[in-house]
Amino acid sequence: MNVRDSEHLFAELSTRADYDRTDRPEEADLILINTCSVREKPVSKLFSELGQYNRIKKPEAKLGVCGCTASHLGESILKRAPYVNFVLGARNVSKIVDIAQRDKAVEIDLDHDESTYHFSEHRSSPYQALVNISIGCDKECTYCIVPHTRGSEVSIPPKLIIDEIKRAVDRGALEVMLLGQNVNNYGRRFSGPEARIDFPELLEQISRIEGLERIRFQSPHPLHMDDRFLEVFAHNEKIVKHMHMPLQSGSTAILRAMKRGYSREWFLERAARLRQMVPGVTIGTDIIVAFPGESDRDFEQTLDVMRQVAFEQVFSFKYSPRPLTKAAQMPGAIDNQEASARLAILQALHREQLSMAMAAQVGTTQRVLFESQEGEWVLGRGDNFYLIKAPADKAAKGEIRSVQIVMADRGALIGTQVA
Ligand code: 5AD
Ligand code: SF4
Repeated sequence: MNVRDSEHLFAELSTRADYDRTDRPEEADLILINTCSVREKPVSKLFSELGQYNRIKKPEAKLGVCGCTASHLGESILKRAPYVNFVLGARNVSKIVDIAQRDKAVEIDLDHDESTYHFSEHRSSPYQALVNISIGCDKECTYCIVPHTRGSEVSIPPKLIIDEIKRAVDRGALEVMLLGQNVNNYGRRFSGPEARIDFPELLEQISRIEGLERIRFQSPHPLHMDDRFLEVFAHNEKIVKHMHMPLQSGSTAILRAMKRGYSREWFLERAARLRQMVPGVTIGTDIIVAFPGESDRDFEQTLDVMRQVAFEQVFSFKYSPRPLTKAAQMPGAIDNQEASARLAILQALHREQLSMAMAAQVGTTQRVLFESQEGEWVLGRGDNFYLIKAPADKAAKGEIRSVQIVMADRGALIGTQVA
């Protein structure tokens, strides 16, 4: 979502004002840092980066902080780094042209509604279009700062989404990536009286766009993975067969403390149903280790879910206490060394599982959208998310081709037969 916000920032500045991009910060008239606040590390990095940019920038150049940390720290950024010119929070992106002309300005209104705003167009990838379908999040996961930085959930009207995708396809996009904190909760609230459709219906409507080859989305919530959603996912041929199912923890007690709204059993049942309905599906997940109060047994339960589901992709994190969240007040903090040890065990299990899953892909044929070139190889994603490499003389960027996989090599599958 931050990448899409950055595209919007640049689109507004280049069409409604006179900015262009430069790779040389010392020549820039305006420097924006688009921030994340989901864990603590990027927040501390912000202030050291601001200091660096302040040293190298032209004296009259402006410096702005955007994104979730801007929402969260607001005014206090100007106190700690007085040379910053403005602070522009997430879901206030459409105000960039205005705020870039002001000094010591702060725009972090959490109720600001951008769900019907017509952003100017800019896309970093010609083949894959990132398209927001909702903003904010209505959940209250106790570890998560996002509802406090992106505000409550509003769906973007279907017509705006479909028109945006059609325009991207007209300009050559083959794939769309639908974005939201909770994509499969789409349609619960609109800010106007538009046609009220839900996520499965939105997927069906998008899949009827001619020229669009593939649909992906990020991130769905396991709680809203009902049968109808899984049916559409399974049977709609344009939907890439990779599902993100953020587990967070495999222990029902911890899930309850996290306020995730599902149990370990629900998650296991949904994942098993998904594997059964969609042969060849790959499943990704997010896991937090060392949430306050996580016992050895709770952690073992997370490993057990991993053994049962055998995720093909795992993003794993040590719990990081965040301001404004309920978990930050909970007792039972886990020692940092123990947290690191748990993370290492979990990641070793995942590496083992992934290399087995990848080895099992050898001999299969996959449809790949090639997106980049590195030396003699072109790289792209297969129908079920694996990164696939093929010789550049057999395929080119921007093509969708069938590739037979001959070997698995550190994070990528290698294919040589290209048709
Ligand atoms: N500490 C660690 N990880 C977190 N995430 C969200 N909040 C925290 C936190 N306080 C992780 C979750 C989420 C992913 C985007 O970031 O796993 O799914
Ligand atoms: Fe955060 Fe939970 Fe919302 Fe995801 S669903 S953004 S983890 S509060």
